[in-house]
Amino acid sequence: MSQEEGPEGGSGEVASLALALAHTIRRRLALGARRTADPGPPPVRSRPDLDARERLERRVAAPDRGVAESPKRPAYQAESSRREAARPASTPSGRPQGAASNGFTPEGPTPAEAAAAAADLGALEASVAACKACALCESRHRTVFMDGKGTSGIMFVGEAPGADEDREGVPFVGRAGALLTDIITKGMGLARADVTIANVLKCRPPGNRDPLPGEKGLCTAFLDRQIELVNPKVIVPLGRHAACHLLGVDAPLGRLRARVHEREGRKIVPTYHPAYLLRSPHDKKKAWEDIKLAMAEAGVSPPGPPQR
Ligand code: URA
Repeated sequence: MSQEEGPEGGSGEVASLALALAHTIRRRLALGARRTADPGPPPVRSRPDLDARERLERRVAAPDRGVAESPKRPAYQAESSRREAARPASTPSGRPQGAASNGFTPEGPTPAEAAAAAADLGALEASVAACKACALCESRHRTVFMDGKGTSGIMFVGEAPGADEDREGVPFVGRAGALLTDIITKGMGLARADVTIANVLKCRPPGNRDPLPGEKGLCTAFLDRQIELVNPKVIVPLGRHAACHLLGVDAPLGRLRARVHEREGRKIVPTYHPAYLLRSPHDKKKAWEDIKLAMAEAGVSPPGPPQR
């Protein structure tokens, strides 16, 4: 046995080993080429495949990426920084950043422009009805401006219209509205027309989702002008969303209710949202305490004991 043949055998075996090695190298090269040409996972459904309704729902429900939710912050900071933090930043056009995102193209004047031009409540209501500043105008049936004349000096402000309000164009006409009407008529001894009732948003968010920061940032110009024109003695925000928006804070309602706040010289007495009270009737007593506080601030006397 020649030492050159090596421990594995003769020259024939060496040749077949070389052939096997060449074959392996060719296979590996071919496999690598196939991997590079792999088309990957099947493509996601393209936009033209979505029907119009689905596209609209996706656009409206998509979080407003342009406006970051203000981070959770302690409820009590300096007033100016709190109010700044609660309002989305503006672009040079005056529109809050991100308000026109997700493919929606706004039309007409901004709410800030329209509200500033409205000399009275009638003109303001017409501007609200014509508003196409955010995507909610595509899904709403009616805008919901206000109810009541406000002779008592008390103004209730809710969060946004629901399905019933969107259908009728009047705030608080559904189940929560029936409870609010009872509070006004049976509790406060007033007619519904003696107070004013409005919302932060004038259009219904689809599916009753929470209003987006960009939507509130736009619509607040209408509410601010509405408050100026109604000129209430006391504002009663109903629920955490309205209270935090009006006070420019981020805090649980429990930290905000049961006391009188001031906003630009106006008194604000937050209380529970009637929809919450329908689910948690044990808190109705506390809500009644808040309402009595608001009445006292507005100089409205609670009804006396029933006459015999
Ligand atoms: N909830 C609200 O906040 N507003 C309405 O108008 C109705 C229900």
